[in-house]
Amino acid sequence: MAYQLEVVDLTNLPPADGILSPQEQAYYDTLHFPKRRTEWLGGRFALKQVMGRILEIPDLKQIEVLPQPSGKPHVLAKGQPVLLAHSISHSHGFAVAAASREERFLGIDLEKIEHRIAAWKNDFFHPDELTAEDDAFLTALWTQKEALLKLLGTGLSLRSNEVCCINGCPRFTGRALEIYERLGCPALQVSTKRWETGFMFSVACGK
Ligand SMILES: CC(C)(COP(=O)(O)OP(=O)(O)OC[C@H]1O[C@@H](n2cnc3c(N)ncnc32)[C@H](O)[C@@H]1OP(=O)(O)O)[C@@H](O)C(=O)NCCC(=O)NCCS
Repeated sequence: MAYQLEVVDLTNLPPADGILSPQEQAYYDTLHFPKRRTEWLGGRFALKQVMGRILEIPDLKQIEVLPQPSGKPHVLAKGQPVLLAHSISHSHGFAVAAASREERFLGIDLEKIEHRIAAWKNDFFHPDELTAEDDAFLTALWTQKEALLKLLGTGLSLRSNEVCCINGCPRFTGRALEIYERLGCPALQVSTKRWETGFMFSVACGK
């Protein structure tokens, strides 16, 4: 797995007008909930920093991260599309972004380890995935599934049961399988780490 990562503390963001292009600023102005505004800005700040390093563009306003209807962000540098794999996640005061020149597909997810109700577990996971049931395991599984959903570019427009991660191995069925096949059945790797501060973080990559 070869990717660059940036983690941003959402309590310490620079002002929006120092980060955003006019088009990004126009979208940002349509967001009204303070939490959503901060997360959206933080995700952009994190991804622009990663892309800036990879593309050697220090002026973050020359890199634009614009939303597509699917929710998957689209990146432009100096007005031109950037085709590098990338992904954003935010959770409980942090935004994280990753990008890669080497991987063709990338998805990341960060979640806080918390106790969640049984209905969530039963709705969200396939029984085959539930090889353990503790909070850390279920949070790790959630991050793996969402990293894969972002890698596919669908988010939760798919049924979560169609994207499984069983002992770290992805398994797709139904529409998820169709999309995976359309992407050319890339060989995928999923890596999960626990952060000291009580978070789980997963990266899904494919060449
Ligand atoms: C992608 C998805 C799964 C993200 O879920 P999330 O955990 O709520 O949010 P995260 O902070 O980890 O990720 C959000 C980022 O994912 C990215 N994203 C959104 N849709 C995406 C898609 N179709 N493909 C790739 N990436 C996508 C965006 O960059 C977004 O951040 P931004 O809007 O600030 O740019 C989202 O599509 C979704 O469907 N969320 C619903 C939340 C939900 O029900 N979660 C299950 C809990 S039981």
